[in-house]
Amino acid sequence: MAGLVPAIGSSLGSIGTGILNMANEFHQIAKTSEIPDGGFELCEADDQLVILFRVGDEFYCIDDVCTHDGGTLSDGFVQGCEIECPRHGARFDIRNGQALTMPATQSTRSHQVKVQDGEIWVCLS
Ligand code: FES
Repeated sequence: MAGLVPAIGSSLGSIGTGILNMANEFHQIAKTSEIPDGGFELCEADDQLVILFRVGDEFYCIDDVCTHDGGTLSDGFVQGCEIECPRHGARFDIRNGQALTMPATQSTRSHQVKVQDGEIWVCLS
């Protein structure tokens, strides 16, 4: 499909140490320097695989699961703020996990991200 590029940088990120931050637990999963603008990385947080995306200076995190039939989104294609499932073509908004096209009708989970001193932290929802 024109304009789509295969995702790059999908190596498994490091498993960070969780810290308590108020009521939410954040996990350090990557460093900002590890993810180029427009790229993403498959990471693990609390034994769950998640995809960490970079768009400019913003970082977003969603589950590595397509809600249509369990496809692996990290094998898909990224264009702007959308990722396309490689199995049947459903698209999701990487900023909030919202399903944008059929055959997916349900959002995949998105997770809160914070950046501190070059480290990226994720709080699973
Ligand atoms: S499993 Fe993703 S579109 Fe079907």
